[in-house]
Amino acid sequence: MNHFVRRPWDLHQKQHTPAGLWRNRRLARREFLRAMGIGAAGMGIGSHLVGCGETPTDEQIHNAGRVELSESAKAVFVDDDVKPADNSNAPDVRDETSRGVTRNENFEYGRPETNRRYAAEYTNFYEFSPYKDSWKLVDDFEPLPWKFEVDGLCSKPRTFDIDDVYRLFEFEERAYRHRCVETWAMCVPWTGFELRRLLKLVEPQPSAKFVSFETMNRPEQCPGIRSSPQYPWPYTEGLTIDEAISELTLLVTGIYGEPLPKQHGTPIRLVVPWKYGFKSIKSIVRITLTDRKPATFWNTLAPQEYGFEANVDPEVRHPRWSQAQEWMLNGTDGFGFVDRSVRYPTLKYNGYGEYVAKLYEA
Ligand code: MTE
Repeated sequence: MNHFVRRPWDLHQKQHTPAGLWRNRRLARREFLRAMGIGAAGMGIGSHLVGCGETPTDEQIHNAGRVELSESAKAVFVDDDVKPADNSNAPDVRDETSRGVTRNENFEYGRPETNRRYAAEYTNFYEFSPYKDSWKLVDDFEPLPWKFEVDGLCSKPRTFDIDDVYRLFEFEERAYRHRCVETWAMCVPWTGFELRRLLKLVEPQPSAKFVSFETMNRPEQCPGIRSSPQYPWPYTEGLTIDEAISELTLLVTGIYGEPLPKQHGTPIRLVVPWKYGFKSIKSIVRITLTDRKPATFWNTLAPQEYGFEANVDPEVRHPRWSQAQEWMLNGTDGFGFVDRSVRYPTLKYNGYGEYVAKLYEA
């Protein structure tokens, strides 16, 4: 997570942040100097750029982290109408105009959709990098074949192959706002299905009060795990059972009508749009029904900074920054700096109060 301003009463950052993240403090200083009209020349502009070195092309970003479609995934991501009749080498994946799933019209962003390049280029996936550049580091990640367990307090625990998921569930596309605790935000179309449909299949027992989630733990494929062995891997997250069965809570396998690229959490991730983004755990290998509040990754590392509930709320400050505003992913500005100019006031529950406020009424 970003740690820009340290105040005397804050915990020393080294207690919960890897040394590498101190680079972000240098970035904050440079951005301050730039705002003061002092040029970046000679200050080492590498680490604050979205990508270091030459600006990658849209095509490079689009191809980064792309995964092969399994046979059953084609049912969701391929539109037969536009498939080439002669089985030529033309890409199978649908483009902007050929949707293999129907968009759920009940959900709208209320603001412009984020350019897919900006979303793919600026991701949080600490297994690969503590910066935003995971797209450059995911090559060794082999997501197929993929299985995940659903176990714990349920009558029919089950192992799902990712292919089962495509066969078993009706997929839809949802236009959701996503808000990171670090104050960046995006509007993206996810392809997925409601988590509660999967939970129903395993028949949760009445004693199940929480659901915990776990990401793959593959140091040999993940440079971020290797470089930060002090972190409590695997990445874990959790929801109350009521949050898990909300109609908003999705298991997602695609974004912008294509399978999730690796840096967005292929082949299956959670999306919980009224909570800060760290709850939306990627590349899931285990879902467990439990009667105890589960330990979670960020909450274990810095409980005073990242609560278990983590509902988006403009009035509850992060200990070191205001949550009153958010800025949309918008690429880089004319100087190659992350463009934070498109801002909106933060909405309570990220604007999804009509669905979830009732969960938190006393
Ligand atoms: N899941 C895992 N396994 N590892 C992570 O580092 N980062 C979280 C969340 N899920 C993270 C994760 C955070 S902080 C955010 S904001 C979202 O993923 C970002 O999703 P995106 O990178 O696809 O936009």
